[in-house]
Amino acid sequence: MKILAIETSCDDTGIAVLKIKNSKFEVLSNIVSSQVKLHKKYGGVYPLLARREHERNLAPILKKALLDAKLLKPKNKTQKAKLDLIAVTVGPGLEPCLWTGINFAVDLAKKMDLPLVPVNHIEAHILANFIDKNPKSFPAICLVVSGGHTQLILMKRMGEYKILGETRDDAAGECLDKVARILGLDYPGGPEIAKEAAKSNQKKKYRIKLPRPMIYQKNYDFSFSGLKTAVLYDFKSRSPKIRKSKNYRQEMCFETQQAVTDVLIRKTLKAAKDFKAKTIILGGGVTANQELRERLKERIKKDLPKIAYYRPEQKYCTDNALMTAVAAYYRQKEKTKNWKKIMANANLAIGESL
Ligand code: KG4
Ligand code: ZN
Repeated sequence: MKILAIETSCDDTGIAVLKIKNSKFEVLSNIVSSQVKLHKKYGGVYPLLARREHERNLAPILKKALLDAKLLKPKNKTQKAKLDLIAVTVGPGLEPCLWTGINFAVDLAKKMDLPLVPVNHIEAHILANFIDKNPKSFPAICLVVSGGHTQLILMKRMGEYKILGETRDDAAGECLDKVARILGLDYPGGPEIAKEAAKSNQKKKYRIKLPRPMIYQKNYDFSFSGLKTAVLYDFKSRSPKIRKSKNYRQEMCFETQQAVTDVLIRKTLKAAKDFKAKTIILGGGVTANQELRERLKERIKKDLPKIAYYRPEQKYCTDNALMTAVAAYYRQKEKTKNWKKIMANANLAIGESL
């Protein structure tokens, strides 16, 4: 069986082809075209600009994905690729971007007379762990952290989810992107902050202390907008010379990364204990963060040594269509040729019916 998946929920255009034989996955192609350069100058994603880029990118990326998968021969113009299923992200995400992917997927499915599977982007981030591994001990606590989401999810079994808590304002990735912007760093901010933090020296000359919002509250919710404001206040209280100094920038990045990861780690461990989880699963762009991955690993080893710990390969943490294909494989019973049923839902929640 071969699934072609399309992902356009935010600013990455992704198309992948996944082959499944005897329940084993083989990645035939996985193309991600990043729009980072385009959005860099604005310090964030502009939905209409992102939509225009998706529209431009989808056809050439499809061709490349099929060529890479060896489902098309370079010079054969009449050849039809042999596929079984088309998957497309329907939400959550930026609505104009989601519709671009959906319209493209529906056209393709009609042309090829193939069924479509609508995919939830948050579930896809979780199932990025199943590309090359097979977490199978449930319940699992999933921490999904991206530019648009910060959620703790109880996964009772494959396909059964309950949101335990989420951010009440900014997502963790959004906070990192905004802090980076304050400090004059590039978009996306997460990787830039991580790089600067790694260079920060031990002395911590500026003694920056940021809040750890909601860390001791008994719920599983988060709040990151106050953290960004605290960075802004500290930044504004410094002289222009200090603001521009690399020591200050590196120290601020270090403390921001510590604050975000402290909260994420504490709440994840609390949820894992409270729900007697057998597994902890990470997903989403921010979980590419080495500090988060490593510190959580150490804490699990120390406090919950029996728990299995999964995080996607770093390249599969950020948006890609391969995870969309994997999610579609597990959601095959939702396949349909009733195209009108495939609708974008910018606020789609995990577990909500599609
Ligand atoms: O999952 P994703 O690619 O897109 C959304 O669904 O939002 O996540 C993008 C977010 C951005 O906020 C970016 O700054 C953050 O993930 N990010 C990171 C790292 N790589 C990407 N944050 C921290 N450390 C990283 N290495
Ligand atoms: Zn995402």
